[in-house]
Amino acid sequence: MNNGDELLVHHRPVGGSVKAEGLGDGCPMRERNHRQAALDAATRSNPQFETVLERIYVAPMPALADIEAVLRIEDPEEMQWLFDFAAAVRRQFVGDGVLLRGIIEFSNVCRNTCLYCGLNRDNCRLQRYRLTREQILASAETIRAAGIKSVVLQSGEEDDLDADWFRGIIEQIKSSLDLAVTLCVGERSRAEYQLWRMAGADRYLLKIETSDPDLYAQLHPGMSFANRRRCLRDLAELGYQTGSGDLVGLRGQTVTHLARDVQFFKEGNFDMISVGPFIPHPETPLAQESAGDLWMTLKMTALARIVSRNAHIPATTAIGSLHGRDERPRALAAGANVLMPNFTPAPYRRHYEIYPNKRCISEDTAACPACMEQMVAAIGRWVDYSRGDSY
Ligand code: SAM
Ligand code: FES
Repeated sequence: MNNGDELLVHHRPVGGSVKAEGLGDGCPMRERNHRQAALDAATRSNPQFETVLERIYVAPMPALADIEAVLRIEDPEEMQWLFDFAAAVRRQFVGDGVLLRGIIEFSNVCRNTCLYCGLNRDNCRLQRYRLTREQILASAETIRAAGIKSVVLQSGEEDDLDADWFRGIIEQIKSSLDLAVTLCVGERSRAEYQLWRMAGADRYLLKIETSDPDLYAQLHPGMSFANRRRCLRDLAELGYQTGSGDLVGLRGQTVTHLARDVQFFKEGNFDMISVGPFIPHPETPLAQESAGDLWMTLKMTALARIVSRNAHIPATTAIGSLHGRDERPRALAAGANVLMPNFTPAPYRRHYEIYPNKRCISEDTAACPACMEQMVAAIGRWVDYSRGDSY
């Protein structure tokens, strides 16, 4: 998506296209000043740090050592420079608006046994559900009525997902509600991806979770890293706006693994990147592990912004659920530009338990837009009710 390797501080990066896309106020001087302010703060105290961030920003493929150096910073002031740098990139490439995507978790049935996930098929304590076509369409209507123009249809990876049934739902949402449709239903065949794309699906989310093949194999019994990559390739080839992402704090994950994830994001040129902290679920083999670190998750969010420039990056619900505090505003300040309010019908919402104590389980969906507006206004941003297509 980014098509230049200009120095953020010295040139106007892809500035013409920013203006053409109607982002920001289009004033080159003001845009330049935003970036300069962030960089000046860094320069004043630590020119080396600025150099590393700028190298990461301009490099066609940032060096592992540079990314690792940034991931290892712990000094609060240095972290703030990183977040400010990412915020300056975000402001320049995607503006100050925060996009809303209404998510419908239409089934928690899953054939897989990912070691971290509460939906894994071995979790016999989870009450399984699958929404009917009518329930899904009614939830999509609620999203539309809230003024949101983008829906995410998410589920566990179901063996029994009837591709044609799903196609009919996508078609109906497109024809009657005209929402941008994002799918997040895991690894499927190219033929299924094609069927749903032809039905009008616009986007697909498939997180890589970790870009390290060995770690991936340890965490995903019976699944294959190669197939995950095949899916991502197929999706891009079929013209989906494609999203990926990772989990931070997985057992066995190192800073080098995370740095490689950042390189994976750069290489994949994704339209959307989702970074979330791992949160242990009691009914999984990782129940006794510690949760992912908030600050590492925020550093990864910032780096995802810096290397992708104009990807859509959510302040994930997992960031909002970690340790019972809503830290999504921090993610928005570190480069994120999307929020994903939950429109799963209330009785089912608590059963989509990928991790415990998920945020917004009991809230009334009607209150979601106002809640999002408030959160976003508190940090001087505004809710963008457009579809939020890829740049
Ligand atoms: N089945 C689809 C797939 O595999 O892409 C979508 C559903 S999956 C449950 C959605 C996301 O939940 C995963 O990509 C993963 O990153 C996240 N997730 C699962 N377990 C988690 C946990 N314990 N903590 C944080 N995030 C988790
Ligand atoms: Fe369902 Fe991982 S446990 S996709």
